[in-house]
Amino acid sequence: MVEGRLVGARHRIDQYEPPASSIAHRVPETGSSVDPLRPYLVADDELARAGKSAEELLRRLVVLSGAHSCRSLSVGPPQSPQGQQSNSNLCDRSEPKWPKVQTALFVWSIQRWACMTQPVRIAVAGAGNRGQRYADLAMVDGRAQIVAVADPDCTRRDELADRHAVSTDRRFESWEALVDGPRIADAVVVATQDRLHYEPALAFLDGGYHLLLEKPIATTPEQCDRIVEAAERAGATFAVAHVLRYTPYTLTLKRLLDSDAIGDVVSVEHLEPIGWWHFAHSFVRGHWRREDESTFMLLAKCVHDIDWLSHVVGRPARRVSSFGGLHHFRADQRPADAADRCLDCVLQQSCPYSAPKIYLPCLGDRARERWPLHTVTSDLTVEGVLSALQNGPYGRCVYACDNDVVDHQVVSIEYEGGVTASFTATAFTGFEFRKTKLFGTHGCIEGDGTVLDLLDFRTGQRERIPMPTVDMPEGLEGHGGGDAGLVRAFVNALVSGDPAAHLPDPRQALAAHHLTWAAEQARLTASVIDLFGADRP
Ligand SMILES: NC(=O)c1ccc[n+]([C@@H]2O[C@H](COP(=O)([O-])OP(=O)(O)OC[C@H]3O[C@@H](n4cnc5c(N)ncnc54)[C@H](O)[C@@H]3O)[C@@H](O)[C@H]2O)c1
Repeated sequence: MVEGRLVGARHRIDQYEPPASSIAHRVPETGSSVDPLRPYLVADDELARAGKSAEELLRRLVVLSGAHSCRSLSVGPPQSPQGQQSNSNLCDRSEPKWPKVQTALFVWSIQRWACMTQPVRIAVAGAGNRGQRYADLAMVDGRAQIVAVADPDCTRRDELADRHAVSTDRRFESWEALVDGPRIADAVVVATQDRLHYEPALAFLDGGYHLLLEKPIATTPEQCDRIVEAAERAGATFAVAHVLRYTPYTLTLKRLLDSDAIGDVVSVEHLEPIGWWHFAHSFVRGHWRREDESTFMLLAKCVHDIDWLSHVVGRPARRVSSFGGLHHFRADQRPADAADRCLDCVLQQSCPYSAPKIYLPCLGDRARERWPLHTVTSDLTVEGVLSALQNGPYGRCVYACDNDVVDHQVVSIEYEGGVTASFTATAFTGFEFRKTKLFGTHGCIEGDGTVLDLLDFRTGQRERIPMPTVDMPEGLEGHGGGDAGLVRAFVNALVSGDPAAHLPDPRQALAAHHLTWAAEQARLTASVIDLFGADRP
């Protein structure tokens, strides 16, 4: 039996080609595309091309397809009506019973019908860096439409609204103005700053909107609880922007782990290399530099790493400890000759954090103009950038800012069953993908966000696991495809009306938030926090 949409069969649906702009996953063995929204049927000629048995190919597809619903992609021998395992080959021509094919065709027809009807209407509250990105990604395959934008910054509001042809009466000065009117969208993306998640999230849920909420859910544990409870009460489709879960890399890794590739996972080592200039941009000069204006660094930056770890380990956390602090970006580290502003500073050449060195080279690079440069100024010229650095917060000396969040932190987590994880977030790295080592009873995996190297103890063999390639519009590749994956999963959930098939239970995101608070409490009190004990935050 092949569960869900990835169904093994002798016929291939080719009446309907996905739109060229669709983000589909290309499977190297067959050269064909797998779109999680549509049933995938394995054809004879594909098997011949791949030189594999149906079962081998399907196992490959499960790992490589990049579909968003792991639970709908398990592969195994057909199940007899009595629940007994059958030995029949998945592609055996004499095998007449393919009840899943009919089901898949039915699901496909419904989905196709849904695709051909009105697109999902999405409103954006907060047309900043993240809101703009999600809006553009939602439009990619034509299944969604941006119908309203709310942001007090008229430049950003109009920029996004113009790009999506949003009528002037649907451009709002605040999320309050949007939610106060009649409901004009099916769903809303809330991408305001951290301390402005709670009120809009609750208001939109109360107003009957489905919700894609930027992380962190909110900035107190109680607020997070209330938002998740409100989403459950409303029966809303609710996605938290834990984008790391949605990368082809993570989907591949998770399938490897679920297919017993390294036996039982015993421990994990995970690094978030924030990057020297990124840290200076966001956590010294930028929005997330002060806890009282946003939140603590681990919640602002790493709650999705903590969520990711729980996701790959697949067990609830039991205990946590943590250490870290603000080591470098302090007045007492300031070189004697440094000026308060980088443009006035004689150390521009030698200082790694010099603002013109960070921002001027972004000009002309579409992705870097979009981020980080667009946060600094919307005037994307040399003069515009220099003016922003001369007058704005991003031109300040990193040793003369009002920042207080930590620049390095380690977290140790013990999960149920004694499985352990260590996590490090640090400013003092290149700007790179996260790096992870997973140690299992029968093998280990080392991943750098782009490739996974597997050592199988049973055979002694090493294997480099290829990632599915994902076609993505230029400038929207953020988080290794995770931004696109999240938006696609959200739209899939809305189109199908089956959020559980495309999105994780929001309670998992909530658990990650509670674990992150526990870690911070452990750091501040130099203690070990028992998540099931009285000291749970
Ligand atoms: N998931 C991720 O990987 C990830 C990455 C970066 C940031 N984030 C989170 O995304 C959120 C947004 O970050 P950003 O970088 O896009 O910030 P941003 O400052 O670029 O955008 C926020 C926008 O909200 C607007 N805003 C302020 N008040 C408003 C109101 N009353 N109504 C409507 N809009 C209002 C601002 O004008 C601004 O344009 C933050 O919570 C941040 O922590 C998540």
